[in-house]
Order: sequence, then C-alpha cells, then structure tokens
Amino acid sequence: MATRWWESAVFYQIYPRSFADADGDGVGDLQGIIDRLEYLAWLGVDAIWLSPIFTSPMADFGYDVADYCDIDPVFGSLADFEALLDAAHRRGIRVTIDWVPNHTSDQHPWFIDARSSRNAAKRDWYVWRDATSEGNLPNNWEAAWNTGPAWTLDDSTGQYYLHLFLPEQPDLNWANPEVEAAMLDTLRFWLDRGVDGFRADVINLIGKGPELPNLAAAGSPIVDIDEPRVHEHLRAIRRTLDSYPQAPMMVGEIVLYDPGQVRAYYGNDDELQLGFNFRPTDTHWTAAGFRERIDEVHRELGTDHWPVWVLGNHDRRRQRSRFGNEARTRAAAVVLLASRGTPYLYAGEELGLPDAEVPPHRVVDPGGRDGCRAPIPWISTAGHGWGPEPWLPFVDDAAELSVETQRETSGSMLDFYRELLALRRASPALRRGSSRLLDSPEGVVAWRRYSEGQDLVVAVNFTESPVATGLVGNRLISSCQGTDPHFDGTLSADEATIVQTG
Ligand code: NOJ
Repeated sequence: MATRWWESAVFYQIYPRSFADADGDGVGDLQGIIDRLEYLAWLGVDAIWLSPIFTSPMADFGYDVADYCDIDPVFGSLADFEALLDAAHRRGIRVTIDWVPNHTSDQHPWFIDARSSRNAAKRDWYVWRDATSEGNLPNNWEAAWNTGPAWTLDDSTGQYYLHLFLPEQPDLNWANPEVEAAMLDTLRFWLDRGVDGFRADVINLIGKGPELPNLAAAGSPIVDIDEPRVHEHLRAIRRTLDSYPQAPMMVGEIVLYDPGQVRAYYGNDDELQLGFNFRPTDTHWTAAGFRERIDEVHRELGTDHWPVWVLGNHDRRRQRSRFGNEARTRAAAVVLLASRGTPYLYAGEELGLPDAEVPPHRVVDPGGRDGCRAPIPWISTAGHGWGPEPWLPFVDDAAELSVETQRETSGSMLDFYRELLALRRASPALRRGSSRLLDSPEGVVAWRRYSEGQDLVVAVNFTESPVATGLVGNRLISSCQGTDPHFDGTLSADEATIVQTG
C-alpha cells in the first residue's frame, strides 16, 4: 500500500511571485525557489505547495490559467520546473502545485474557441445562458470580491457566460464529460513529470448543476455550492492520482466553512486525501474560539478523516496582524504544528511578518489581498534580496524581520519555528498521535497528544495574565523565551507550551 506521506508532512505554501527573485525583475521565480531550497531544508518542512505557476495573463495572478501545461515566462520555463522538482526531491522535499479546475482565463484557447460562435466545438465547455424573457441577467449571482454580477454578456454571440470570480475567469462546465477528460489530462501532464500532488482551487464549485437557481438574496453563491455531482468528479480525479507510483495527493480548497461539509469531500477514502478547514483562519485569539475549532474537527472529522490545519494563506490576513502581537503569533505556531492533522504553513509566517501597508497607487489585487503577499525579505540590507522595485512593497521592519537577521538571532520567531518543526518531526505523538481536549481553566485550551510510547500535553494561554493549569511535567518547548524546563503548571501570558507527562 502506498504510504500516506501527506498525513505526517508539514506543507509550506509558496506564493511564487513573492517568494524569491533570482532574475532581479521584482517578481519571484522558479530559480529563486531553487536557490532557497537550502533554507526550506534547514527550516525543516517536508513538502511545498506552489501557488499557480502556469501560463496566465495574471488578472488574478495565476488563478486565471491560459495553458495548464506550461510555465508562465515570468516564473521561468518547464526546464526550470523540472530542475526545481529534481533539486527538491534530492533534499527530500515533495512538490505539490496549484490546479485551478473551476475556471480558466478568458485567454485560454478553449474559451477563445467557445466564444467564437454558438456552434463552436468548445461552446459547451463553459456555462452560457440567455437573458431572461424580461431581458434580465440569467440569475442573481454575484462574482467574488463585490466586483458585480457573475455574468458577462458576450456581445458577438449574444449570450452571457458565468464567472464566479472575475470576467477574465470564465467558469468551466464540468457537467460536460469532455471537460472532465481534458482536465484529468492536465493532471497527468504533471504527474508524468513526477509531481507529488496538487492543491485544487475552489474544488467544491466544479459540482454546480445546470439549474443555477437564484439565491434567496442576491450575493455570491461560492460558499453555498455543495452538490452531489462533485463527488463523481472527485472519484475520477482520485483514480487518476492512484494510478501513479509516487502516491500523489490532492488537498482541496473547499470554500464551505462547516467542517461537517468538508468531511464529505474525503468520500470513502476515494476522493480527496485532504480538505482545508478554513474556520481557524478567521478565528480571534480567544480560548473559546480555538477550543471550538479543535472540538469541531474532532467531532466532525472523527478518526477516519485526517484534518488539515491552516492559519493563513495568500488570501487571508497575516497572523501577526490578526492576533495583534508577537507573543500570540508565536503561540499560534504551536496551535498549527501541535494539533492533530496536516499543517499548512504560509511562507513568511515563520518570520512573523505582518500584512504590508500597501499605498493606493501600489494596489494590484482586485480582491484586496496585497498585504499578505508582500515579498519575503531575505537579507537585512536595502532591497532585501530583490530587484530594484518588487511588485509589492515590503512589510514595515523588513530588515529586522528578514531571514538573515532572524537566522542570526537566537530566540527569534524563525528560530522558534525551526525548533518546533524539529520537535514535531521527532515526535510520533505530534505527527500521528491521537488528540483529546482536556478540562482546563478559563482562558486556557489544553489537549493531549498520545501515541504508543509518548504522552504529551499541549497547553495554550489565550489571556494576558499568567494562569495556573495544575499540569506538571517536562517542558519540551515554550513559545516564551527563557522558560524553565520543569513546567510547574503556570503558563505565562499568551504562552503555548508542550509538556511531556508520560
Ligand atoms: C481561491 C484562491 O486561493 C484565490 O487566490 C483565487 O483568487 C480564487 N480561488 C479564484 O481562483
């Protein structure tokens, strides 16, 4: 049986435009990633996920794909990708890539054909509708980010096409079997080259049926589309993955916020291997909030469905900005890496980057997400390892937060992440063990991680005062600096600690 390597791996999300710039044009690239594999190996992550690198006009920075089987020149070439895959594998790092199945770019040859005439060969590969008999839009759906209706009229053929995101991102019609077949071929293209898996963009949306009913009140249907037919597509995808020797995986971006709904996307271990649960990405720093996050995952996913933990990504506010101070952000690292499940760590979180302040004239994202996409500051001196003017501004305090400065500073956020990742890697209880919430005083969440031979307790103080927990043991790690290895039961303000009890 293939190993379920994705269950014990820590995934590191790279937003390629913002990660590392080897050619000095101000936009990150594949060679930049190759050059930083040493850093990732040193940090101690097991796998990377690259946000989109395929050919794209960049209306949504790669989430508008014009060719699923080539690399956009801004990032490099197919040969660069093969070099990256090879170099990562030599370091024992697996490589997963973003796959955007719900929509293409309006510049994709499929859409160019589809809009050429009502009788075009690929007309039905997209979702076309007439205006209603009163001349209104086909339904009341709105596109993402308050950008207006989800329908754009194609003047030359006189019909509307559906786009749940930008007009430059027309939705594919997965109800047409040719679309499924063509999209499975795009997976094979990368699997044949040896990739280890995929992150599937807004995967729940490919299940929409032909009815496209009005919403009770006009708005975006994105968080509502959860239809049975998606599971047939997911099973076809899984069969494709399972036919490859490298045991490839797929994690789904499921834009449903109830972990009970996310559970269905694992199927009977014949659909997705992993599904993102996004609630923790907008949970405030409170014990009640995080206790419920952990509890609902235990309750809804049980022991048969392996959870994913994520606290930030290229669409969300950075943890440092969300939680408000460094102590909490350090403690949150423990929540991410010591909860039962697969952690996804967004590049820059290990540095404790805040969101960048982006002045109006530098705003580039139609979805208002530029702040969390600021370039990674590699070195402390001006330019921070980037070309003259990176595509987005750096965060404030980029010099102090840079990789270079933090690698040299014992006790830095980066140092702490590295220590925590090493502890996790060496600990069967943290990687694979069971998890049970414990009774704990107000303001504290504590849970037990257990595997044969190792019994740990993770305890997090969400308050600004010390709290006595009644637990004692050997402290394996603390988010606060200078703590005593013997844990006497008292957590400092905003402290997270992992204690060996058995
Ligand atoms: C979700 C992605 O994470 C986001 O960045 C993108 O804009 C939308 N899907 C549309 O593809």
